[in-house]
Amino acid sequence: MRMVDLIEKKRDGLELSTEEIGFIIKGYTDGTIPDYQVSALTMAIYFKGMTEKERADLTMAMVESGEQIDLSAIEGIKVDKHSTGGVGDTTTLVLGPLVAALGVPVAKMSGRGLGHTGGTIDKLEAIEGFHVEISKEEFIDLVNKNKIAVIGQTGNLTPADKKLYALRDVTATVDSIPLIASSIMSKKIAAGADAIVLDVKTGAGAFMKTIDDSRELAKAMVRIGNNVGRKTMAIISDMSQPLGFAIGNALEVKEAIDTLKGEGPEDLTELCLALGSHMVLLANKAATLEEARAKLQEVMKNGAALESFKVFLESQGGDPTVVDDPTKLPQAKFIYELAAKEDGYVSDMVADEIGTAAMLLGAGRATKESEIDLAVGFMLNKKIGDTVQKGDSLVTIYSNSENIEEVKNKLYDNITISAEKAAAPTLIYEEITE
Ligand code: URA
Ligand code: CA
Repeated sequence: MRMVDLIEKKRDGLELSTEEIGFIIKGYTDGTIPDYQVSALTMAIYFKGMTEKERADLTMAMVESGEQIDLSAIEGIKVDKHSTGGVGDTTTLVLGPLVAALGVPVAKMSGRGLGHTGGTIDKLEAIEGFHVEISKEEFIDLVNKNKIAVIGQTGNLTPADKKLYALRDVTATVDSIPLIASSIMSKKIAAGADAIVLDVKTGAGAFMKTIDDSRELAKAMVRIGNNVGRKTMAIISDMSQPLGFAIGNALEVKEAIDTLKGEGPEDLTELCLALGSHMVLLANKAATLEEARAKLQEVMKNGAALESFKVFLESQGGDPTVVDDPTKLPQAKFIYELAAKEDGYVSDMVADEIGTAAMLLGAGRATKESEIDLAVGFMLNKKIGDTVQKGDSLVTIYSNSENIEEVKNKLYDNITISAEKAAAPTLIYEEITE
């Protein structure tokens, strides 16, 4: 097989076979096919797309390019949740203990990564003593015992995706639905998921800004999952404004605790119930979505979800008493209020820009080397649709620096107050299960 012929085939809009895709991914991973040929191929894919069969083949070729996590020693159906990323998205912290309380095994491999706030591991490290440096054996034992454990990224998972993603980044070929969908799905499958619930965000703070693009990506991922034998569904949810009230690591842990008690923000609670119901259903822990939701609400009310969080924290060295006394979480030195400059209605809160303001404060990493300040961030006191009077606090700012002019200006620039009444955005647009 010659790479040049395969580039030509895709350039002309023809379908690559399973063997051909396997040849490309193997050759690219081991360095026998150079970057320049793969660049030409990804550009051809950008313009010509990929068939459903090609997408499934590409996903599995990337899964097979490296190590795969074997979770077969864990009893039950391992359902993983994946979010395409947003601002102040605390759902993972809530959903893990929540569905684990119903017996759904949560075997989560998590990372730090870049972004507005830290990754799930950074957030959990706001809890004194908590660590994810556990062995694979311990990880599996903990999931069997407690139904939930989190381990740091281990092993050489999907090296082909790492190389391809870096190449796409510098060749203007990131924005290709088949390439994005197979990239995300390959990582979930390599991490051992039997079934996958996807939270595809849409709006200013999301990777996909429009509902049409979000739907296309969601459908592409759901089809790949189902075509390769992993039951997969997707929810398309709003990320025009940040989710919940908290943006920042320790603040989001506190928000997760509130939500596990059934006392969280309405939007975060609803999204967790919607995603959680599908996880419970896919894990065969309920017969219908309605039954799954009722069970989730029950464990929020009777304290079982919170107890599951405490057991999880303690098993990985964390201090479980933070759950009852969140003042034990890292606290910021300075607290400021962002006062509204006029009366009216909040009509816009641009999620990604507010996320960037949180990063300026130190809540997230701009580069891999940046240090995160776990204590800092925002609590939103108003959301889109709320009425505001001049002088009301729009946002409470938790900072370890007194120099916050830039942060304040960024917030003012991205929170719009209008005279006309504004509607709260739709939270859940669609559920895609086909
Ligand atoms: N996120 C991924 O993991 N892969 C992509 O290609 C795009 C976003
Ligand atoms: Ca939040």
